[in-house]
Amino acid sequence: MDADNAYKEAIRHGRYSEQVAGLRCKYDHVRTQFEDFITTYYLRPHLEEVVKSKTGGSSGEGLRFYDLGCGTGDGYELLSKMAREARLSQFDTRLIQEDMMDQYKGIDLSVDLLKEAENLFGDYEHVEFCKGDFSNGLPLDENEESYDLYFTSYGTLSHCTNEELEKLFVDMGKHGHNGSLILADFIGRYSYEWQNLWTRNPEEVSYIDYVINYLYSEEERDSVELSSFPLRLMTPAEVFKILESAARKAGVGLKVLRFFDRSLFVGRHIETGTYNDNAQPLRLMVSSLFERGLRTYFPDLKVDYKPREGFDWQNKSLQLLANSWNELVDYTMTLMEHYDSDEELLPYPPQTDVKPLEKAYRVMRQTLEGSKGLYGDIRADLIEAQLGYAIRSLEMNLQQGHGLGHGLVGVIEVVK
Ligand SMILES: C[S@@+](CC[C@H](N)C(=O)[O-])C[C@H]1O[C@@H](n2cnc3c(N)ncnc32)[C@H](O)[C@@H]1O
Repeated sequence: MDADNAYKEAIRHGRYSEQVAGLRCKYDHVRTQFEDFITTYYLRPHLEEVVKSKTGGSSGEGLRFYDLGCGTGDGYELLSKMAREARLSQFDTRLIQEDMMDQYKGIDLSVDLLKEAENLFGDYEHVEFCKGDFSNGLPLDENEESYDLYFTSYGTLSHCTNEELEKLFVDMGKHGHNGSLILADFIGRYSYEWQNLWTRNPEEVSYIDYVINYLYSEEERDSVELSSFPLRLMTPAEVFKILESAARKAGVGLKVLRFFDRSLFVGRHIETGTYNDNAQPLRLMVSSLFERGLRTYFPDLKVDYKPREGFDWQNKSLQLLANSWNELVDYTMTLMEHYDSDEELLPYPPQTDVKPLEKAYRVMRQTLEGSKGLYGDIRADLIEAQLGYAIRSLEMNLQQGHGLGHGLVGVIEVVK
């Protein structure tokens, strides 16, 4: 019930579904341009296969989705707006057309969130929201048909203990059909946001006493009394172990197609300092890159990574990302200075062995070269947005799904 109270508070303070300028609040630019994008990027190839098998076959069946911990129904929006690869001249890029969706069912513990979900999406005929608790396994009606995707988002499965998770995976394994997908979304164990909580013994079960204080201003954060709730901090090895045991008990295969880390250095708590004394407001700075008409102060965009002793592989990976990120910001500043002095040729980037950085350098140089004479505030609207995408690409290509981001997500296939 602690979690229910915490979400209730966020709704009561009008913070959970507020969509103001994308700098703060739930739907800031990092959520839309980084987090939603990254989730759909890694899910898409697997979902495309399911779409092909369903809509290409003779069965005429549509797709069925089950969203566990659906909250206000964001999962429905994410899935129905998910884009496929498309040519510039194509207008409609949706992977799942409305007539392809047979059923989207969302369950949540919180009646307040469900009410909001109902207001937003309840009118669609194939959409259903109901109260349900996944801590005792997968809530199902009698004879309920299997789903093509059992979906969770934004750390939802970290609400479960190991035992609850195992039961849930057993149920999804049994209920799913061959080829059903499970998107298992956890909170990563070694995110820089909670560096104070990192523990050395990988066998030790690790929790964070999570507080949703990031939706409040710095002054409010200190004055508002907020509830907290425990969330499980996960590594892929821990998830594998639970999956193995669940697969054995269910008598099915639960095959991990991939793990990915989401939001390294831009998770919600990078600004609050609640769990890391060295936190800095990087999420706000990255969101600012995407805000139209607003220029970002680049020196504050750089990551001041402070390694923690005794965590060598974590420090090594995070330091590589921080260095690449900072070198890209420095190079972009250099490009802008040369651009301003009307030089014919913009400087070439420094040599690097880091392939994703090499590409990001190239894109930034190309962006500035090509932007001469364009309309509008080209720094705020074009160069900064491209830098935002370039940082996102560094994050995506330098992560390995090891639990170093705010989110650790597994794409899992049921094999029967
Ligand atoms: C991190 S939020 C994610 C909400 C939403 N899916 C989104 O993308 O914004 C986790 C959600 O899981 C719900 N939840 C937590 N424990 C639950 C349980 N045992 N059964 C059902 N829902 C639960 C919470 O109420 C909350 O809405």
